[in-house]
Amino acid sequence: MRERYVIGNWKMNPVSARAARRLFVALSRRLPRLKRTTVVVAPPFPYLALGKGFSRFTLGGQDAFYFGPGGAYTGEVSLEMLADLGVRLVIVGHSERREYVGETNEVVNKKLKAVLASGMKAVLCVGEREREPREAALIFLKRQVEEGVRGLTRSQCARLLVAYEPVWALSLRSGGRVAPPEHAFRMALYIRKIITTTLGSARASSVPVLYGGSVSAASTADFLRDGWLGGLLVGGKSLDPKEFALICLAADHA
Ligand code: PGA
Repeated sequence: MRERYVIGNWKMNPVSARAARRLFVALSRRLPRLKRTTVVVAPPFPYLALGKGFSRFTLGGQDAFYFGPGGAYTGEVSLEMLADLGVRLVIVGHSERREYVGETNEVVNKKLKAVLASGMKAVLCVGEREREPREAALIFLKRQVEEGVRGLTRSQCARLLVAYEPVWALSLRSGGRVAPPEHAFRMALYIRKIITTTLGSARASSVPVLYGGSVSAASTADFLRDGWLGGLLVGGKSLDPKEFALICLAADHA
């Protein structure tokens, strides 16, 4: 049985440390023991220490800086700091960071290399902003993948995951537009093809492609059936412990 991933991205939520602590506890109570699914929770940096020591999920970072340890990098968080708090996986190049902080493919590639070189897993997020025109969307995605994974070694690729997250299907922007699973399957195949042409099939074959964008408990099985996708990146619904636990359970059984 292939390993599955469900990664909860809390984005900039909840609003207080107290609420974050409550969310960790509620989540840990709800999450069942799973057979093949690794559950990762990625809270904002200030709450990471509150999530240490729970056994049903591991901690993820929503970002990390590529230099360190130490140094004059005001406002940045190093991989050593994250590792010390128990973080085992870092999300890199989320569309919101590309949009609001201006992260380029070049910066994303540097961060990806740093995370993977540190021995942690990394999730490279890619995804087109608009579904149409289709040709432009494919070209955009191709560049993100090519420039994102450029120069990764074979051992680094063994710790790499890619999440296909079409921006038009993210819950806070989509206005109810959900990507059809068949679209996600096709794009996962396309992404794998680009990794193969960029790095060769030996490196590409180990990389799971996840889907993210308005995932709910009701849609989980549809996205994970047929084995095209290696897991899910969940935003909005990861803040609801009951729903998130149902997503993890459905992923484990799909
Ligand atoms: P969503 O977010 O599940 O709320 O659409 C996913 C993400 O941005 O990672």
